[in-house]
Amino acid sequence: MDELFDFTGKVVLVTGGSRGLGRAMAHAFAERGADLVIASRKLPACETVAREIEELGRRALPYACHVGHWQELEGLVAATYEHFGRIDVLINNAGLSPLYPSLHEVSEELFDKVVALNLKGPFRLSALVAHRMSAGDGGSIINISSTASLNPSPTSEPYGAAKAGLNAITRSFAFAYGPKVRVNCIVAGPFLTDISKAWDMPAFEKRAATSMALKRGGQPDEIVGAALYLASPAASFTTGTTIRVDGGTL
Ligand SMILES: NC(=O)c1ccc[n+]([C@@H]2O[C@H](COP(=O)([O-])OP(=O)(O)OC[C@H]3O[C@@H](n4cnc5c(N)ncnc54)[C@H](OP(=O)(O)O)[C@@H]3O)[C@@H](O)[C@H]2O)c1
Repeated sequence: MDELFDFTGKVVLVTGGSRGLGRAMAHAFAERGADLVIASRKLPACETVAREIEELGRRALPYACHVGHWQELEGLVAATYEHFGRIDVLINNAGLSPLYPSLHEVSEELFDKVVALNLKGPFRLSALVAHRMSAGDGGSIINISSTASLNPSPTSEPYGAAKAGLNAITRSFAFAYGPKVRVNCIVAGPFLTDISKAWDMPAFEKRAATSMALKRGGQPDEIVGAALYLASPAASFTTGTTIRVDGGTL
């Protein structure tokens, strides 16, 4: 294995690791030697991915928690340190963008839920983990943002605003916890995961043909290269930045 991308002995915590982009990244790190913490709301789904990781010969801790609930995140960090004794890579990946009929019909509950999962939770978890990382061997934090943070759409505004906040804390955390902890952000474009099941696919394909250089949605495995890069020593001089993995979205 290329030593730049050898994660043997490293522990990677992926929120939303049970499906979609999170599962693809969890597999990629395990295939390169890492042990994994798979966190999402539904324990059975985390346990399924944890078994897949174990079949690759790695150790895995499935853990149920709601990333939008501030008080549940200390338990996630404590359980990880109790089980593995370290966290080398945190991937703040869990996120969602619920549909709503119009901006004036966005409820306070929907707004708070979206901001809690996409911004508040990653803020709290990053603070807890970066504090521990900087007192130990250091590490890398990767936030999974969205092109909605750069090209906000009226159809996903609380989400775009929350992800823009995530881009902002990427930079401030990089300064707060550097040089031992690097913090970066992947701005994802449209990926064909469970999220895309709610899309009008003919309309999406029409839009992709004119507004995306690659003219298609991404497959979950296509997020992996950027995540491995940002977590690895190959990115030792890369922090506080965002990388777009969006098929060349305008
Ligand atoms: N797919 C896209 O087109 C796209 C585009 C731009 C950005 N992104 C971003 O990429 C990330 C991953 O998206 P995806 O497409 O892989 O989504 P996905 O397939 O819907 O998977 C979402 C993951 O997050 C977990 N999750 C959802 N709510 C949670 C909560 N409150 N607490 C803890 N875990 C929670 C889910 O598991 P449980 O249901 O068990 O909780 C699942 O593991 C998200 O941050 C999303 O905003 C995706």
